[in-house]
Amino acid sequence: MKPIKVGLLGLGTVGTGVVRIVEGHQEDLQRQTGSAIEIVKILVQDKTKSRSITVDPDKLTENAWDVINNSEIDVIVEVMGGIETTKEHILTALNNGKHIVTANKDLMAMHGPEILAKAAEKGCDVLYEASVAGGIPIIRALVEGFSSDRITKIMGIVNGTTNYILTKMSQEGAAYADVLKEAQQLGYAEADPTSDVEGLDAARKMTILSTLGFHANVALGDVEVKGISSVSKEDIQYGKKLGYEVKLLGIAENHDGHISVSVQPTMVKNTHPLASVNGVFNAVYVYGEAVGETMFYGPGAGELPTATSVVADLVAVVRNLKLGVNGRTVLAPYKEKKLKTDEQ
Ligand code: NDP
Ligand code: HSE
Repeated sequence: MKPIKVGLLGLGTVGTGVVRIVEGHQEDLQRQTGSAIEIVKILVQDKTKSRSITVDPDKLTENAWDVINNSEIDVIVEVMGGIETTKEHILTALNNGKHIVTANKDLMAMHGPEILAKAAEKGCDVLYEASVAGGIPIIRALVEGFSSDRITKIMGIVNGTTNYILTKMSQEGAAYADVLKEAQQLGYAEADPTSDVEGLDAARKMTILSTLGFHANVALGDVEVKGISSVSKEDIQYGKKLGYEVKLLGIAENHDGHISVSVQPTMVKNTHPLASVNGVFNAVYVYGEAVGETMFYGPGAGELPTATSVVADLVAVVRNLKLGVNGRTVLAPYKEKKLKTDEQ
């Protein structure tokens, strides 16, 4: 098959990892897909910025249309973040017949249905494994691995930044503001870290997981959210004395179609496995009627773990191209099923 040409939107933490993996694992990727994968254009804000990798300067552009309207490009990998402008870029790219891989949970939690509908209309793939829990393939597990089961509950730690902060506050007595700065320097935090610490990032991820797991149209506004900004060192130390760790937990439950989703700081008994999930690591429990309890664990953010998920989606797009089945991957809820409320 001819080489697959990729346009990359963003060359920050995740984009850099994507370039490293596509270049570093090229032979393995070719063996698995039967095609060379070549990144031909990269959108950045500032071409003159110094970067931790060397890229051909001719590939860099500050003009999104050089990528989105580039007829040579088959797949757009969106790792720039942002919502409204990014949504327009992606819808235009889909109209141009390009497949999309994105790590953008903000976008998928808010505009997923519209984007997926456009993708279906155009016969294009939109894959977003990296949008939840970084390097853990939790979306594929929910959509494919548990397709035979009825999921009743999804629970876990789905934000790396806040788990990193809570761990350092608990284990080292570190100050909240100092650890947040560290998480930003390590590339874990969002461009605006308020969404991490106020629980919104986790809420967006729980929206995506519960939508996919429960086959229901869960909206971000359906999620009850409380972040960790009001959790003090004293709260954490007091909890420890009583045998608990404070963790920011996302909990989504489906009781006969009555769905509730929340994100909040929670005292977790120190004998529970979630209490030992430390640093940037995430863990997600999935409960199914048939399977019972399962747990997924791994790095929830950071350059290479996140890029692993992004490039795995890229491989899936290329495999679909080979089979001629793009746009048929079911990663959307059943359209007719609405969220039930207590009044119904
Ligand atoms: P960064 O801030 O590190 O990188 C963003 C990149 O996009 C930069 O290269 C920047 O250009 C470019 N960019 C941003 N806005 C524009 C714009 N308007 N026009 C052109 N270029 C633009 O972000 P991350 O890599 O951390 O995150 C990217 C996405 O991945 C986000 O959606 C995030 O939520 C998601 N994500 C991040 C994870 C992580 O661990 N960091 C994990 C999972 C998902 P320049 O370099 O010139 O500034
Ligand atoms: N800011 C996010 C986190 C990045 O800390 O989990 C991964 O989605």
